[in-house]
Amino acid sequence: MSNFHKPVLLKETIEGLRIENGRKYIDATLGGGGHSFEILKLGGAVLGIDVDKDALEFVKRFKPENLTLARGNFRDIDKIALLNNFDKVAGIIFDLGVSSHQIDDPARGFSFQNEGPLDMRMDQELGVRALDLIKILTKGELNEIFTKFGEEIRAWEISDAIVRARSVKPIETTKDLAKIVFAKSGQSKKIFQALRIIVNDELNAVAEALPKALKLLGESKRLCVISFHSLEDRIVKKKFLEFEEKNMGRIITDKPIIPTAEEIEKNSRSRSAKLRIFEKK
Ligand SMILES: C[S@@+](CC[C@H](N)C(=O)[O-])C[C@H]1O[C@@H](n2cnc3c(N)ncnc32)[C@H](O)[C@@H]1O
Repeated sequence: MSNFHKPVLLKETIEGLRIENGRKYIDATLGGGGHSFEILKLGGAVLGIDVDKDALEFVKRFKPENLTLARGNFRDIDKIALLNNFDKVAGIIFDLGVSSHQIDDPARGFSFQNEGPLDMRMDQELGVRALDLIKILTKGELNEIFTKFGEEIRAWEISDAIVRARSVKPIETTKDLAKIVFAKSGQSKKIFQALRIIVNDELNAVAEALPKALKLLGESKRLCVISFHSLEDRIVKKKFLEFEEKNMGRIITDKPIIPTAEEIEKNSRSRSAKLRIFEKK
């Protein structure tokens, strides 16, 4: 399983969820099933959701009992849950972002380190890829995206370089883009992050999903959210504060839970993970 994705903050999340035998849980981001399999081991039944067909196909191979699989976007968690008879559940987990499988497969176009088409869709059925954005957006629009969602201070120079380069030759691969960006800022991580967020509408999906998830929870049950960058974490923190202000429950993690040095050493991709937990009233 570890080749597909190594679960992050597994022990901390499972403890946070306080799994009870025979109860229902939702894993809104199935990925390689790391968190789902742990819940199943402890006797829970799981609804595993993912937009990526590769994730569902991978997990299906293990033929796990008590795991219901659903392809869909977690922004529709309310509908997906009801359709599968998973309301008043005993816990919900969101482990946001991309799986290692998505990063490592060059054909998916997420990584600036692997040559591949500039795609970045988590849901293979989405209409717009990163290369389409790079092709059609104006310099001003690129600048805005790179500033807002990549927090890149050289956004304007990079946008300018992209517009110049594409007038000579289309920018279609991860390496095409990484080369142009790297020449301006010495790294391309932030620009890739910004494009990924836009292609998958990641921040809006999280903001829409969390209130719906809270509604699906039973009394005194918990919502666990793992995020991987500050923009995402800010949304989770803000939503949890809103829930508390509306007297819908309490924040369990005043400060987010982060991986131990040992976990980071074993799995460098856990480095930026932050787990926040909310308990419904
Ligand atoms: C970090 S991985 C989850 C890994 C999983 N917890 C494990 O341990 O194997 C995130 C997964 O969430 C999926 N995902 C991201 N955004 C989504 C969304 N809006 N709706 C449904 N799935 C989403 C991705 O396709 C990816 O497979």
